[in-house]
Amino acid sequence: ESRIPIPKTSVSVPRLGFGVYQLYDQACQQAVVTAFGAGYRHVDSAHMYRNESEVRAAVTKAGLRREDVFLTTKTRSATGDPEKTYRSALESVKNLGGGGDDSYVDLFLIHVPGSSPEARQELWQVLERLHKEGKAKAIGVSNFRVQHLEEMKEYAKIWPPHVNQLELHPWCQHRELAKYCSDNGIVLQAYSPLSCGEYLKDKTLGEVAAKHNKSPAQILIRWGLQKDWVPLPKSGNPDRIKENADVFDFSLDEEDMKALDGLDKGATGAIFPANLR
Ligand code: A2P
Repeated sequence: ESRIPIPKTSVSVPRLGFGVYQLYDQACQQAVVTAFGAGYRHVDSAHMYRNESEVRAAVTKAGLRREDVFLTTKTRSATGDPEKTYRSALESVKNLGGGGDDSYVDLFLIHVPGSSPEARQELWQVLERLHKEGKAKAIGVSNFRVQHLEEMKEYAKIWPPHVNQLELHPWCQHRELAKYCSDNGIVLQAYSPLSCGEYLKDKTLGEVAAKHNKSPAQILIRWGLQKDWVPLPKSGNPDRIKENADVFDFSLDEEDMKALDGLDKGATGAIFPANLR
């Protein structure tokens, strides 16, 4: 099956997503159109990325309908005024949704836990309102650790959050947190599944890649898929965009999975340690 049902919602998420961090304007539109051509139907954006409108424009340009694609955004800006925060989040909904009153996003996440419980609560209550209004089909968090997820129980009407999006690759596996999420029915999305390119030359990874006649990047994506996570690889290059989607014609065996599992460096393996503070 090419999608994962999101527990307690009416939606399912395509198993593979396309990340668009640091892609802007025409280059972003181009990359997303290429991604749709390569078969992706899921794009991971954020208010902070400043490219929500380009992602939406790419849907139309590719000849797809809104309901053909799964679109995610994220917010990190609590204002201290829930109405104001709501209006800002609604802007993201309209940017990705096409602007009409029927605009919606498939998934809306809190981008980072940030520093204060008050900010997390304000953002979550805004997302709960959008969900209730049908403007966010699923809602979740990103970079939340167990303590943040547990804290949510104090104020959340909707718990667990439907999704937690984390930096996840063999060198940064967040084992305890990942287990907590799967035990609680929280879908895990993997950002920077290619470790931002950092470990693509790893020897063990190279051996697994050679065995399957696939690229190291394809092996990393496949490893994430077989964990039942949702990898969100990112590329601005047409050939690599296609390469990263060409991961459904082979599978890693137990030995390969074990070899890759053995690469974990825990928190020190993270490329973006600051996101998890
Ligand atoms: P580029 O945009 O030039 O393709 P991550 O998804 O882990 O954040 O990694 C993104 C980084 O990895 C980008 O620098 C991207 O560069 C690079 N990248 C994406 N796909 C591949 C690939 N198949 N092989 C090598 N590097 C890749």
